[in-house]
Amino acid sequence: MTLQILVINGPNLNMLGQRETDIYGHVTLQEIMADLSAYATSKGAELRCVQSNLEGDLVAAVQAAAANGAESADGVVLNAGALTHYSIALRDAVAAVDVPVVETHLSNVYAREDFRHRSVIAEVCVGVVAGFGPLSYRLATDALIKLLS
Ligand code: DQA
Repeated sequence: MTLQILVINGPNLNMLGQRETDIYGHVTLQEIMADLSAYATSKGAELRCVQSNLEGDLVAAVQAAAANGAESADGVVLNAGALTHYSIALRDAVAAVDVPVVETHLSNVYAREDFRHRSVIAEVCVGVVAGFGPLSYRLATDALIKLLS
């Protein structure tokens, strides 16, 4: 069976390419996801991507990943954006499901403002990748493929 990887992107990641380009670069989310999708395919996995600016949508996507249905996944790459730092609801959703989740960030959150040093989600994830720009998504995908194979 082909591994199904779900990539969830949270608030403001739809603004990549125009948003704080000194930190996040000029590549759009669409371009990053297209590249990642091709990469996953080359590794024998199938990728599905969702983005929302709403916390509840992200909670629903995590829950759906674990349910039996069209939106189910074997593993999740999660860039929750700012919700990483304070969303207990998203943390609880990740803790509630039996699907491995890799917390992922484009920037090195530990080299930025203090409030970005704390993740309320990391503890319930299988691992964290941060600081490699768009490559962070590939590394997280690789980790899931290795873990699940
Ligand atoms: C981010 C880091 C977060 O602190 C920030 O709120 C984001 C993007 C990253 O990918 O580097 O929106 O998750």
